Amino acid sequence: MRRAVYPGSFDPVTNGHLDVIERAARQYDEVLVAIAHNEAKTGLFTFEERVALLREAVQQHPNVQVTQFQGLLVDYARSVQAQVILRGLRAVSDFEYEFQMALMNRKLDSDVETMFLMPKEEYTYLSSRLVKEIARLGGDIGAFVPDCIARALRAKFAATDSAPSRKP
Ligand code: PNS
Repeated sequence: MRRAVYPGSFDPVTNGHLDVIERAARQYDEVLVAIAHNEAKTGLFTFEERVALLREAVQQHPNVQVTQFQGLLVDYARSVQAQVILRGLRAVSDFEYEFQMALMNRKLDSDVETMFLMPKEEYTYLSSRLVKEIARLGGDIGAFVPDCIARALRAKFAATDSAPSRKP
């Protein structure tokens, strides 16, 4: 059984992440898309919302599961007997951070190998942060996220916009 963990914040999942997940689902028997549970880092979507949205977005892949983890990624990978940590590499700008993380994870557990997958070129400029900004400012995000995420983003910002101001 070749099992890989694809960790991230996924706040929210984008078409770039989904492209990596599709590639991974073809290469591995089982892919665990693992959302990092970080109490100190608050995202736009709650942890529970991210889990539900990711589940909806990957439902067509029978060998992909959405999971969560707390603490060290290598400890989680070991606990689920995954041999591989997967990360997407979009551009050179990703490299330094990813290289540092991969080597640190190797130092922590040399049995878990980090593998990189490149999404389609058209997604190299895509990030959750930019998608959120475009959605917040009313831009069209249809090409960047699946429909369920676009709807959730619109609902999130509609709710935020209509919320009464806290300022006096
Ligand atoms: O999508 P992101 O935010 O780039 O994902 C980063 C993530 C969650 C993969 C990374 O922060 C992580 O692995 N966190 C778990 C804690 C950990 O193991 N830290 C040491 C990494 S060398």
